[in-house]
Amino acid sequence: MNHNIVVRLDAPVRRSYTIRIQSGILDDLPDTIAREWRGKDVFIITDSNVRRLYGTRLLRALSSRNISSCLLDFPAGEQSKNAEVVRRLHTQLLAQGIRRDSLIVALGGGVVGDVAGFAAATVLRGVKYIQVPTTLLAQVDSSVGGKVGIDHPLGKNLIGAFHQPSGVYIDPRTLHSLTAADFRNGLAEVVKIAAALDRKFFEQIERTSRRITKNGLRLLSDIIARSVALKVAVVEKDEFESGLRKTLNLGHTLGHAIEASMNYTLKHGEAVAIGLVAESRIAVNMGLLKEQDHMRLRNTLRRLKLQTTFPKIKSRSRFFAALAADKKSDAGGTKFVLLKGLGYSVIGVQVPTPFVAQACGFPIV
Ligand SMILES: NC(=O)c1ccc[n+]([C@@H]2O[C@H](COP(=O)([O-])OP(=O)(O)OC[C@H]3O[C@@H](n4cnc5c(N)ncnc54)[C@H](O)[C@@H]3O)[C@@H](O)[C@H]2O)c1
Ligand SMILES: [Zn+2]
Repeated sequence: MNHNIVVRLDAPVRRSYTIRIQSGILDDLPDTIAREWRGKDVFIITDSNVRRLYGTRLLRALSSRNISSCLLDFPAGEQSKNAEVVRRLHTQLLAQGIRRDSLIVALGGGVVGDVAGFAAATVLRGVKYIQVPTTLLAQVDSSVGGKVGIDHPLGKNLIGAFHQPSGVYIDPRTLHSLTAADFRNGLAEVVKIAAALDRKFFEQIERTSRRITKNGLRLLSDIIARSVALKVAVVEKDEFESGLRKTLNLGHTLGHAIEASMNYTLKHGEAVAIGLVAESRIAVNMGLLKEQDHMRLRNTLRRLKLQTTFPKIKSRSRFFAALAADKKSDAGGTKFVLLKGLGYSVIGVQVPTPFVAQACGFPIV
């Protein structure tokens, strides 16, 4: 049930780190930090919910081992992924005496990982950090690969950096306290990884979809390990997303535009699930994907209790502006990752606007 996955990155400099997946690993973390980061000052960054659930306990355990540590937090939720929160963190880190050899611990979901990772990448031109993801989404996806950043009023994740963590500690037991909605949210990214990269894994999710629960630790640990291993293989080949890594944006081109145009009232994974279905509809309409595969994808997401129908978008202009601001855009327009089968994707597909409008249920003008 324990999995260790090593991430090997060779260029521009050799860097490797290990992703450890193990029930109860959070309880061992203070000893691990005492052993592996001896003498470093530790700054835990978390959000208001995770502080209460796991943060205070971790701080106490570090202090009782005489590790100089402090705990910083910000209000939970996507709305905190902004420049103001990062500026406040910078101020607190500097005021508390952070140095280049200090260690930041990103303890929380994907928002904490992205924000704390970005603060770590930028304060004093970069300090080391470790990821301790506590949501399913963060455990299967966002804690791996070193993409960190914040949102901008013009669109999602537009400000950021690549800053690899020095280690990732995944404790599936932390998922017990997750809400059902946040658990489902993470399953959307699992389906994305499987559909984009690995047919067998997709079929495993399809087969076991009704049995996947946040308390089913054995099945869950395997799903997390498989998702992480698939993502690691991609990141090792294309750390800076010049090609292959773009496949992991499946469902995200429309997903991000949905999130931004709905003022982040949907959870990221909820928007991704809708994006996966609408983008696979585009793939069918463009003659890339079989209707039957589109239906299998949609039905799997439904069995995982994810919404798949396109929401009402009040401001279509905001939606298309967010689409145009997408990082995958270039002078030729927005590029999509589309499926050509379950487990197989193509990157860089130019999609004419009428196909987008049709898949989103907008009237075609
Ligand atoms: N950097 C990347 O590669 C990458 C990849 C995918 C997603 N993301 C980003 O991740 C973010 C979404 O992450 P998320 O869904 O984890 O959101 P989140 O961090 O907001 O967490 C969701 C909620 O769960 C709470 N929570 C966290 N751990 C908990 C626990 N163990 N028990 C109970 N509650 C807990 C949080 O306080 C929050 O209210 C988005 O901003 C998305 O853009 C980044
Ligand atoms: Zn995502």
